[in-house]
Amino acid sequence: MSKVWLITGSARGLGRHILEAVLEAGHRVVAAARDPGRLADLQARYGERLRTAALDVTDAAAARAAVQLAVDTFGSIDVLVNNAGYGHIAPFEQTSDEDFRAQIDTNFYGVVNLTRAVLPVMRAQRAGHIINISSVGGRIGTQGLSAYQAAKWAVGGFTESIAREVTPLGIKVVALEPGGMRTDWASVASSQIPQILPDYEPSVGALLQLLKTHSGSQAGDPGRVAQVVLGIADHENPPQHLLLGSDALHYFGETDAERIRAAGAWKDVSLSTDVTAQGPIPAFPDR
Ligand SMILES: NC(=O)c1ccc[n+]([C@@H]2O[C@H](COP(=O)([O-])OP(=O)(O)OC[C@H]3O[C@@H](n4cnc5c(N)ncnc54)[C@H](OP(=O)(O)O)[C@@H]3O)[C@@H](O)[C@H]2O)c1
Repeated sequence: MSKVWLITGSARGLGRHILEAVLEAGHRVVAAARDPGRLADLQARYGERLRTAALDVTDAAAARAAVQLAVDTFGSIDVLVNNAGYGHIAPFEQTSDEDFRAQIDTNFYGVVNLTRAVLPVMRAQRAGHIINISSVGGRIGTQGLSAYQAAKWAVGGFTESIAREVTPLGIKVVALEPGGMRTDWASVASSQIPQILPDYEPSVGALLQLLKTHSGSQAGDPGRVAQVVLGIADHENPPQHLLLGSDALHYFGETDAERIRAAGAWKDVSLSTDVTAQGPIPAFPDR
């Protein structure tokens, strides 16, 4: 059945792959991008099934206007894909406050702005899917990506929290968590690197080397991720989190195993702070 989609950051990268897959599948779309002129080829090909909207996701009024455009043009919004996002790699100490806040603004408040705009429509419909493109970086911590990953963790928490509010109203909210994909993400992330302080060479410097080595050979295929997005939009009970890519599974698995180990090792300390606990705080484990 033809649905109405709104996709942010749709002019290139994963967003463009999702847009093309959705159009190919016969749906109607409001494709949002900072420069909608870059969608002229698709506009010519798909005509009335595609409307474009100028949208910087940090602009809440423009987010509301994009949602209104979808409702006015197509009568509803069935699927919102919060795809727009970017990171800048640098040690936290060498990340300016302005850069840090800008990354949170796009990667987290962008999702908040679009969700706030679309929920009244979906709530009235008693149906809808909100698909947030987070990252495996929303489940683990990587040196050099403090602002980006803080925002992606926030997206994960936001997803889980509002899912509890709106799932009973027929609205599904999902965080997709890809590992590295072959898009412009890594080159954008490496585009503003400061002269790294020697103290951060073993951590952030090593990550940069790793990214350079793997650039262009990331595991993730954005075209295949787009196919998963299409499938999730048809799913009645999608998971709240979905890792995508062998690297995402590997890094999450390692991190989660360590979390479970640490929680077990410190369990007696955790239990010792209850009002009802007896005796002294237990000895701490070595790690
Ligand atoms: N590629 C990866 O390795 C990877 C891994 C995990 C998660 N992700 C996530 O996947 C999503 C898509 O990224 P990508 O891989 O496709 O990277 P990309 O090729 O660099 O594309 C990023 C997209 O986000 C848009 N964008 C950035 N800031 C925006 C803003 N303030 N308002 C509106 N649009 C904005 C860009 O629009 P412009 O063309 O106007 O710049 C572009 O369309 C992001 O949320 C990213 O964090 C990527």
